[in-house]
Formats: sequence, structure tokens, C-alpha cells
Amino acid sequence: MDKLRQRLIEYADGFLTGNRDEDLMILLKRDHCLQVAEVALELMKSVSEDPYEHRLAETAGLLHDIGRFVQYRKYRTFADAKSENHSVLGVRVIDEMALLSELPSGEQKLIKDAILMHNRAAIPDGLAERAHLYAALLRDADKIDIYRVVLEYYENPSSIGSVTLDLPDIPEVSPDVVEALRQRHPVRMADLRTVSDFKLCQLAWIYDLNLPRSHRFFLERAYLERMGTHLPEFSGKNFLITQLADFLASRL
Ligand SMILES: [Fe+2]
Repeated sequence: MDKLRQRLIEYADGFLTGNRDEDLMILLKRDHCLQVAEVALELMKSVSEDPYEHRLAETAGLLHDIGRFVQYRKYRTFADAKSENHSVLGVRVIDEMALLSELPSGEQKLIKDAILMHNRAAIPDGLAERAHLYAALLRDADKIDIYRVVLEYYENPSSIGSVTLDLPDIPEVSPDVVEALRQRHPVRMADLRTVSDFKLCQLAWIYDLNLPRSHRFFLERAYLERMGTHLPEFSGKNFLITQLADFLASRL
């Protein structure tokens, strides 16, 4: 695991250019990969005592966003809609660098499939139990760490615009986005018009968490309260926050 972590760090550092703003984005994604590995490990420990599964979950977390570096160098954005699907790019990098070659082919596929599913709107139906667990766990770990990243950004605004998909940072929410959240539906990326919409989209992720340990992460880190303080005022806001808080509490 240490060896793979080292390879990821060296690979990511190879994308540093000396341009401060660009390098910040590379380091942000590098640290995100490292943190998602930690969270994925923690989540797997909550459902399995098998050290082998722990290592696989950590590996999936570590590599899940490895496509981000090529994406950023080529397109200068993390918005898939404006570039390419970063999980597909990532699996290509994993194959080119043979990063999973020490694992049996079944486990290689398990990890790559989980990576390919981590940024889809939903987990496809009909997956085998283990494939479903890895997909569910990786999606949760990613969301848990993205909250860390965006809250740090909302709490200490800087010039980094790419964590918010280059959307305009204005205190307006779109009715479609509010309505989706009210109905506990996922918010479609195509409906996002402002950073405030993006925050609501991230709140809707709470309904998409899979593992009980993930809900506990949200409570331990006070994610809902913290995100709530960065929302503008709009009609129905308190209802949405209360609905989310009740939902989280019910999952414990
Ligand atoms: Fe990702």
C-alpha cells in the first residue's frame, strides 16, 4: 500500500508546473486521493474485518481520481461536461501504468468498475454484491472528502474556482434544484447555474449515501450545519435543512 501511495504521489507531482494556481489544483486532487483512501479504509472496516478487503478499498480510494491530473493538464478544468469523463481517463492511466498488476484479475476489475461508477448519477441495478459494495463505498468516501475540500474553500474563499466547476458565485438558487432537494432526488449537474446550486446539489448527496458509517462521518464532521451556513437565504431553506437533519439522525 505504501508503495502504491508513493507512486500516486510521484505521478501527481509530475504534473506540477511551477504555476502557483495550477499547482494548487494538482495538490488539491493529490491530497483528495490520499484522503479518500483513508476514508474508504475506514468505511470498509465498518463492514468487514478482512485485511485484504481493507487494502482493496484503500487502493480504490487512492486511485479513484487518478484521471484528474491528465484531465487538468489537457483541459484546465475538472468539469467532465467540458472535457472528458475523468473516471474513464483514470482507468486508462491505471492500465497504462499497470498499477493493479499485482492483484488477481477479478480484483482489478472490481476496483476499476468501482472507479468507473464513482461519478455516475447512480449505481447501476443488478450488480453482484461485492461489486455493489465497492461502488457504494467509493461513492460515499468521495463525497465525504469532497465535503472536506469544498467546506475548506467556502470557509476560506481563495482564488481557486475549479472546485466549484467554474460556476458564478452568486447568492441565487434555481427553482429546479430546490425542488429536487425537497423531493430528495439527486440534483442533475446540468441544472446547476450557480455555486449556491452546487451547494444544494452537495446537500442532496446526503440522500445518496450508502453506508451507516458514512452518515456518521457527516454528523461527526458537522457537514450539514457547516454547509447550511454557506447557503443564501431562500424560501423553504429551513424546511430543507430540517428535512436533511432528520434524515441523518434517522440513519444512526
Ligand atoms: Fe472523481
